[in-house]
Amino acid sequence: MVYSRNQIDRKFSMKTRITQLLGIAHPIVQAGMSWASSSVALPAAVSNAGGLGVLAAGPLRTPDFVRMLSELAAATNRPFAVNIPLYRPGAQDLLDAMHLQRVPVVIASQGGPRAHLQRFRDIGSTWIQVVSTLEHAKKAADAGVDALIVVGSEAGGHPPVNDVSTLVTVRRVLQEVSIPVIAGGGVADGWGIAALLALGADAVQLGTRFLLTEEATVHDKYKAAVLDADVHDTVLVGRRSLPVRGLRNAFAQAIFDAERDQVAQDDYEALFKKSTLKQAALDGDIEWGKVELGQSAGLVQRIEPAAEVMAQLVRELREATERLRAMGEQDARSNT
Ligand SMILES: Cc1cc2nc3c(=O)[nH]c(=O)nc-3n(C[C@H](O)[C@H](O)[C@H](O)COP(=O)(O)O)c2cc1C
Repeated sequence: MVYSRNQIDRKFSMKTRITQLLGIAHPIVQAGMSWASSSVALPAAVSNAGGLGVLAAGPLRTPDFVRMLSELAAATNRPFAVNIPLYRPGAQDLLDAMHLQRVPVVIASQGGPRAHLQRFRDIGSTWIQVVSTLEHAKKAADAGVDALIVVGSEAGGHPPVNDVSTLVTVRRVLQEVSIPVIAGGGVADGWGIAALLALGADAVQLGTRFLLTEEATVHDKYKAAVLDADVHDTVLVGRRSLPVRGLRNAFAQAIFDAERDQVAQDDYEALFKKSTLKQAALDGDIEWGKVELGQSAGLVQRIEPAAEVMAQLVRELREATERLRAMGEQDARSNT
């Protein structure tokens, strides 16, 4: 069943600090994913369905990014964001272009916000910082970012190396930080969204769930491998470098062998960097590429259009919140 934008919005909407800050109907953020959301279709579909669509700028050349940004702006009249991993070569050029194009919402990861925040503030952009530890959450909040995205160890991409789960990391950050928090890592349905909202988050970010959509721009073999994966089929690879959560494949095994053999750091880095996400995402090399995915891959059974995923997430979120409310009402009746 295909839902129109208005059908989804009329069914259910929630007000949180994040929906109000960003002007979105639902507290649902499609995570920025290099290659998978480095084109227009996925973020446009999510934004049009009332969530926050996120264009992943990381792997794009600056002219391609500028073109896609204008195509995205033409494809939706709703809020959207641009994700930029700050450590990547080329990040400075992309940031300059984002500034020039007055990107409304910046989602920055893998690097501190201090050096960039003021000039984006000056043009009225909202800056959201992705963090995976309490220490980085506090630093980003002190630097003055508008909101945080907090991810725990279940997440695809770069989860915390300390292995602390989403449930615990998010709750710990909420104890210390008062700015709005978008939580993520391990969520693939409305039940998970409700759980993190109940924990105190203001919205929830989903990556792997949106990887398994028709619009995500990764190779069919990549999607098939993610669809096949169960909750226990991912591993954290590259603990001596910049670890990623990925599929347990030949590349992951080679890295574990190198760790067991205590190979020299240079050789380890060379082996780790030889394999790329691009190799898996564009060429479909799911044995030797970095197949990034979260544990929640095991919760997803179908590849669907992103608008249908959004409609389903909203329906499940409504069911989950109604279930909790009904439990409270039953309790009140039994106490009278
Ligand atoms: C294929 C893939 C690519 C990713 N690329 C990026 C990226 O470019 N920038 C970023 O900040 N996070 C990236 N991430 C992490 C996601 O933004 C998000 O934090 C993560 O997917 C959430 O966990 P989940 O997959 O369990 O929902 C990526 C994740 C995946 C699965």
